[in-house]
Amino acid sequence: MIVTKSRETVEQIFRDIFGCDPLLVRSPGRVNMIGEHTDYNLGFVLPAAIEKAIYFAVSPRTDDTCRIVSVDMNDTIDVTIRQLHKSPKGWPNYLLGVIDQLSCAGYSFPGFNCVFGGDIPIGAGLSSSAAVEAGLAFSLNHLFSLGISHIELVKIAQKAENEFVGVKCGIMDQYVNIFGARDRLLKIDCRSLEYEYIPFAFDNVSIVLLDTCVSHSLASSEYNQRRKECAEGVSILRSEYGAIHSLRDATLDTVREMRTRMGDVIFRRCKFVVEENDRVARGCAALQEGDLRTFGQLMYQAHEGLRSEYDVSCRELDYLVALSGSHSDIYGARMMGGGFGGCTINLMDTGAVERFGATAMEAFTSTFGHEMKMYVTTISAGTHVLTNDEHAAI
Ligand code: GLA
Repeated sequence: MIVTKSRETVEQIFRDIFGCDPLLVRSPGRVNMIGEHTDYNLGFVLPAAIEKAIYFAVSPRTDDTCRIVSVDMNDTIDVTIRQLHKSPKGWPNYLLGVIDQLSCAGYSFPGFNCVFGGDIPIGAGLSSSAAVEAGLAFSLNHLFSLGISHIELVKIAQKAENEFVGVKCGIMDQYVNIFGARDRLLKIDCRSLEYEYIPFAFDNVSIVLLDTCVSHSLASSEYNQRRKECAEGVSILRSEYGAIHSLRDATLDTVREMRTRMGDVIFRRCKFVVEENDRVARGCAALQEGDLRTFGQLMYQAHEGLRSEYDVSCRELDYLVALSGSHSDIYGARMMGGGFGGCTINLMDTGAVERFGATAMEAFTSTFGHEMKMYVTTISAGTHVLTNDEHAAI
């Protein structure tokens, strides 16, 4: 049985404070293999849930108070379900947004006690926020038998972030949090919301994350700006081609044709998204044939597009991707997630991980004057209830 430190801590703190047995839920972080900034353009993504996770311990109350304890922030809040206000503290908003969305959707439930915490690094682009949102939505659905389907939980968690936190994120992070599965990537069609599992279990191949430890303050404002730019691109395309409702419907030819009307910035954004969708399709085909070299090349191409066309990379990310590109044991690398900091994702021979990691850390520190981190990650199950005798669902 795998019992992680975070799980034990959360469970123990819950028992110490509330003196009863909680419902325990594990909610994972995520990686994205390829398909960046395509989700809100109703295209395709290829993420996976990982072993790093947030653990929730929850139990019902008889009044309508929610007492929420954040182990990582060493802080507690008390709120009343029908009087929710945005918190100046920041961290509670990911949870309050979920309670708010459940209430708006007409679900009624009493107050609850909750202790949560985990080992997903914050600001590293591994979706700790989606893990908090989707994890709480899942926990409350189970605790109060609300009967909400998995896809509805995903939408509620996404809306919590869009409306309460104020980041207009797409659906990828919350979706893979709930639907992720061990040793499988999840190819999501962000328009139909259908998915397909793509097996990912290659002998002697590791998924390595290099964390720049840069967490850029521009991330959410620039993210919302990219969404606006894409929407502008769609309205220009649509003025000529009525059947185009999102960049998912556009081809490279139509984008090129409208280049002058779009201007340089909008053109580059649209071109990147159309090409990135195509890379997801080609990437899945390569993985199904076991062709990691081709997949790796697509990762490098994706990075180049994110850097030079979508303008969401930064010096530290570019440096690490270039470093990976000079090592033949590495199949591919690229920046991952929204951008402006966080991690690069690397596919590499397991035997080379340690040596490459040491080289990268030394080179990075001497170039940027601060340390980076490295995580070797594994693909794990999506959010689920933990039982005492659970045998390593992760
Ligand atoms: C963030 C968002 C996702 C997605 C990625 C970029 O992680 O939360 O919805 O848009 O950025 O691919």
